[in-house]
Amino acid sequence: MEIIRTIAWMKEAARKARAEGGIVGLVPTMGALHAGHLSLVRRAQQDCRPVVVSVFVNPAQFGPKEDFSKYPRALESRTYVDVEGLSDRFEGRSRPGHFRGVTTVVLKLLEIVQPQFAYFGRKDAQQARIIRQMARDLNLDSEIVVCPIVREADGLAMSSRNAYLNPEERQAATVLRRALEAARTEVSAGTRDALRLQAVMRRALESEPLASTDYAEIVDAESFEPVTRVSRECYALLAVFVGATRLLDNMLIRPAPEGGDDFHFEL
Ligand code: PAJ
Repeated sequence: MEIIRTIAWMKEAARKARAEGGIVGLVPTMGALHAGHLSLVRRAQQDCRPVVVSVFVNPAQFGPKEDFSKYPRALESRTYVDVEGLSDRFEGRSRPGHFRGVTTVVLKLLEIVQPQFAYFGRKDAQQARIIRQMARDLNLDSEIVVCPIVREADGLAMSSRNAYLNPEERQAATVLRRALEAARTEVSAGTRDALRLQAVMRRALESEPLASTDYAEIVDAESFEPVTRVSRECYALLAVFVGATRLLDNMLIRPAPEGGDDFHFEL
């Protein structure tokens, strides 16, 4: 492993790797690495050599009241990239400016490294969708690859934020997974009505006193607009406070490839 500390050096190393016929992969992170991040690195290693893992705690994607305590008042950069529409709902509504910060830094990383492939987790499904839109709209040469959610043994999606949970909250946090499973059971039983599915998820979440729901919705996987019926590919999308910690989770609901009215689920 080589540790690269400057942009000029990174550009040069990536240029050299490409010139030597390497297929460059990029895994952007904010550090605090866990098995979720490592799954992206392993996936990248299947397709690419070399694999670049970036670690940058991006001030531009934290709101002023969020956990980046020493938010710098004067950003050096004045240029932003903003994916309209997709960025203003769900995570974007709860965290104004967040996605603009994400897309700006990811574009910079893609420009510096110019990878053939860049890897993102489906745990942040809206983020992955927005980045893919940016890559398409700006005709970037990097292909955006979205990888499955890595979970703890009890089903909690891995996240750096899980470290903020005390033991009781950690136990309570399994309710996100249970709410998604309740929706899965309901769809499998034939329910297609999104409001009904939403109610099932909310009821499961409300059964946990330490949890308070920010949103629990069924959205179209392309537009991230709420749907009224499950027909195309969609996500069951959750953001839930457990104590003071805000956790995300989702389940992909996709029409069975063999056709008919069946659905498959990816948790
Ligand atoms: P970070 O939260 O560090 O996550 C880095 C990548 O790891 C993201 O693509 C995220 O979706 C993925 N990831 C996190 N937990 C995962 C899990 N349990 N299973 C699978 N993948 C998981 O997301 C960011 O950083 C930033 O917004 C970033 C893209 C780096 C831009 O600053």
